[in-house]
Amino acid sequence: MSIAPAARKNVVVFRKLPDDLLERIRTWHDVTVADPRSADDLPRFREALQDADGLIGSSFKLGAEELSRAPHLRVISSISVGVDNYDLGYLKQRGIALCHTPGVLTETIADTVFALIMAASRRLVELSDHVRNGRWTRNIGEDLFGWDVHGKTLGVLGFGRIGQAVARRAALGFDMPVVFHDPFDVQVPDRLAGYAVRASFDEVLERADIVALTLPLSDETRGLMDAKAFASMKPGAVFVNGSRGAIVHEDALLAALDSGHLRAAGLDVFTIEPLPQDSPLRTHARVTPFPHIGSATHETRRAMAELATDNLLRVLDGEAAISAFDLSKV
Ligand code: DGY
Repeated sequence: MSIAPAARKNVVVFRKLPDDLLERIRTWHDVTVADPRSADDLPRFREALQDADGLIGSSFKLGAEELSRAPHLRVISSISVGVDNYDLGYLKQRGIALCHTPGVLTETIADTVFALIMAASRRLVELSDHVRNGRWTRNIGEDLFGWDVHGKTLGVLGFGRIGQAVARRAALGFDMPVVFHDPFDVQVPDRLAGYAVRASFDEVLERADIVALTLPLSDETRGLMDAKAFASMKPGAVFVNGSRGAIVHEDALLAALDSGHLRAAGLDVFTIEPLPQDSPLRTHARVTPFPHIGSATHETRRAMAELATDNLLRVLDGEAAISAFDLSKV
């Protein structure tokens, strides 16, 4: 079935979508697929913006300058939970709806954060490389021992859906006391009552053996983890980041690792992604880097793409999105 030409809108798909979802959008609207991250596609992407009513995609910065090329734009449907790629003030001012994909990726990102905790503390990637590179010629010695995760105090910075899912894994699976900080008045879920306690930002840093960052990137959180914050962490603590790289001063983190104040870091996100070849974080002995795999499983990426497609089609059809980002507080 298709709809009358007048009701058809122009949609720009700026990140790969599964074929069936692309076809679903094509049933109702006229679609241009153009990936602005490819230099070849960028001119076509920009040309398509001129008539675009809706955009769907992720992983590309859409600031005021870029969006000013799209005078008819009504909705951006982001295939991500994070919305830091968009100029929120500009979207609000122009009345452009922004949708994102919270909820469907919570457990997968929490798995990733927990994998960072395990990998950094137990040196899993380094030790796996030890085997792969043919260096396992006799039993490993103390110099390659790791650090227990179970029973350690976990500090969670950002106690939203993802922070709580990480805390659940830690408290109920690994017998870890949890101390958390969140800028909002978040309630401790029943399952974590008695395991998780609220504290100030400074207290979390001072009390935790392992600190996990699960805050969104915003003007308030940019650069939050600076030299002072790392100095406040316990000597020998582990730091992991599964949210956004720009919340961390990477030079300050490197200094805290180099001085031996921090034991190790597990990082899924970086200020510049992909991580530049010359970044010391790529090969640092105390850093376990992942290539931003937070939500990267077949099931979750599929669920995100479906939700983003539903959001887009609804808004273009004049209905409320399933998961609109609330721009009213911006
Ligand atoms: C998001 O959706 O914002 C995550 O970073 C994806 O991994």
